[in-house]
Amino acid sequence: MANRAVLLVFLVVAGYFVVVMNGSGGALTLSSSKLIHRYSDEAKALWVSRNGNVDVKWPKKNSLEYLELLVRNDLMKKKKRRQNMKLVNHYDLLFPSRGSQTLFFGNDLAWLHYTWIDIGTPNVSFMVALDAGSDLLWVPCDCINCAPFSATYYNNTMLDKDLSEYNPSLSNTSKNLPCSHHLCKLGTNCKGPKEPCPYIVDYNSENTSTSGFLVEDKLHLASASNHATKNHVQASVILGCGRIQSGSYLDGAAPDGVMGLGLGDISVPSLLAKAGLIQNSFSICFDENDSGRILFGDEVFATQQSTPFLPFAGKSDDYFVGLEHYCVGSFCLKLTQFQALVDSGTSFTYLPTEVYEKIVFEFDKQVNATRIHLQDSPFEYCYNASSQELHSIPSMRLMFATNRSYPIHNPLLTDSENQVKI
Ligand SMILES: *[C@@H]1O[C@H](CO)[C@@H](O)[C@H](O)[C@H]1NC(C)=O
Ligand SMILES: *[C@@H]1O[C@H](CO)[C@@H](O)[C@H](O)[C@H]1NC(C)=O
Ligand SMILES: *[C@@H]1O[C@H](CO)[C@@H](O)[C@H](O)[C@H]1NC(C)=O
Ligand SMILES: *[C@@H]1O[C@H](CO)[C@@H](O)[C@H](O)[C@H]1NC(C)=O
Ligand SMILES: *[C@@H]1O[C@H](CO)[C@@H](O)[C@H](O)[C@H]1NC(C)=O
Ligand SMILES: *[C@@H]1O[C@H](CO)[C@@H](O)[C@H](O)[C@H]1NC(C)=O
Ligand SMILES: *[C@@H]1O[C@H](CO)[C@@H](O)[C@H](O)[C@H]1NC(C)=O
Ligand SMILES: *[C@@H]1O[C@H](CO)[C@@H](O)[C@H](O)[C@H]1NC(C)=O
Repeated sequence: MANRAVLLVFLVVAGYFVVVMNGSGGALTLSSSKLIHRYSDEAKALWVSRNGNVDVKWPKKNSLEYLELLVRNDLMKKKKRRQNMKLVNHYDLLFPSRGSQTLFFGNDLAWLHYTWIDIGTPNVSFMVALDAGSDLLWVPCDCINCAPFSATYYNNTMLDKDLSEYNPSLSNTSKNLPCSHHLCKLGTNCKGPKEPCPYIVDYNSENTSTSGFLVEDKLHLASASNHATKNHVQASVILGCGRIQSGSYLDGAAPDGVMGLGLGDISVPSLLAKAGLIQNSFSICFDENDSGRILFGDEVFATQQSTPFLPFAGKSDDYFVGLEHYCVGSFCLKLTQFQALVDSGTSFTYLPTEVYEKIVFEFDKQVNATRIHLQDSPFEYCYNASSQELHSIPSMRLMFATNRSYPIHNPLLTDSENQVKI
């Protein structure tokens, strides 16, 4: 009995990426990023080289213990570096008070990655989408037009807790951001400098936006220390009280808000760094099942691969990297002047038409499965493959500047609903 599954070809650059924004708070001009293999055998090697080949039981890859070991390894490295630093209140790593875990619900919540955060006093929990492609943290708030809050509405058993609405008047640490504040972009539209600052953010998805006004409140975080004690840290952040959402935000994407992780001054990583709480960096790591973790202040192992961020058109709050080759099996397509946006808040990988056509042509040539046409599918290349054939699909790799090779994990979307047993 072999399983046959319908494959929809698409490309997910799932993996571990660490963003290191160099600079001592303030203006962030050029950044350097590190792109890393998510399963770090280097880390194991490093651990052994640091600690000797002591009799440690190396935990199962991606288990919680595995991630904790990685974190502790990071901490040891950073402790050394910290001795040269004079930042007040500086923590090695911070993560949301409910834990660093990220969550993934597939199509039920628009293929985005989420994490729970606590905001305000008393605190309220929100399951925000993690978006490296935008800056603002916003949550549904004093709702005029918001997505449903009931967990059952989203049809996913992994979502076991209802979503929340933020009400600034119920948080005794909440205060309106005044129009005169330097981070109030729409300040010129205000009647007076003390008025609450309005905001509107339009996203790339069609007709997708959030609007409302900006408030300052406490984000509850926990600090990781060498002794594995978890200390509660409250950080002042600016967040959007999202009164009106539209487009995808009413249709399964980020129903409980978005945490923008971009380079802009208003993003949570930027504000935490500006406050001297962390290094200006963060990391997101995904496991094979698309769950993972987010850490603020994380940096990278010297042995891990990296590629620099590119300044895009002189100014952009987005992360761009230079891609040199796109490889399918042993075939590598050379890309010239190819700048790619790295965005955790975009579900799929998009390529320019001429690149896409060459890649899928090559994939189709190499794949050993029957191409089929699926009605109403947004995917052009679909195959009916046996589980055996699934294992022999061509590998895909991205090559970055200075020959950094980054394998693409799970390049295929397997439609299990169409699984046919024979
Ligand atoms: C805010 O609320 C918390 C608990 O809800 C309370 O302990 C604290 O005293 C309050 N602070 C102020 C300034 O009212
Ligand atoms: C959030 O509030 C709950 C009570 O509602 C409390 O038990 C918990 O410790 C609070 N978390 C933080 C991080 O303050
Ligand atoms: C959940 O499932 C029901 C019944 O299949 C469907 O009507 C509804 O649209 C689904 N909800 C979402 C958010 O997809
Ligand atoms: C976006 O809005 C325009 C104008 O309201 C409408 O014509 C269009 O169909 C909308 N697109 C989507 C994907 O909803
Ligand atoms: C991923 O899911 C598979 C199948 O459910 C499971 O066997 C595996 O242990 C999971 N991996 C992780 C890292 O949780
Ligand atoms: C491709 O599939 C055919 C038919 O299933 C099989 O005979 C052949 O060995 C496969 N080739 C490779 C390279 O897997
Ligand atoms: C896939 O192939 C199997 C065996 O050849 C066939 O029974 C099944 O109908 C095919 N499924 C689709 C969706 O074409
Ligand atoms: C890049 O890597 C390939 C194989 O991975 C190797 O053949 C080639 O020499 C390398 N080029 C440079 C410039 O290091």
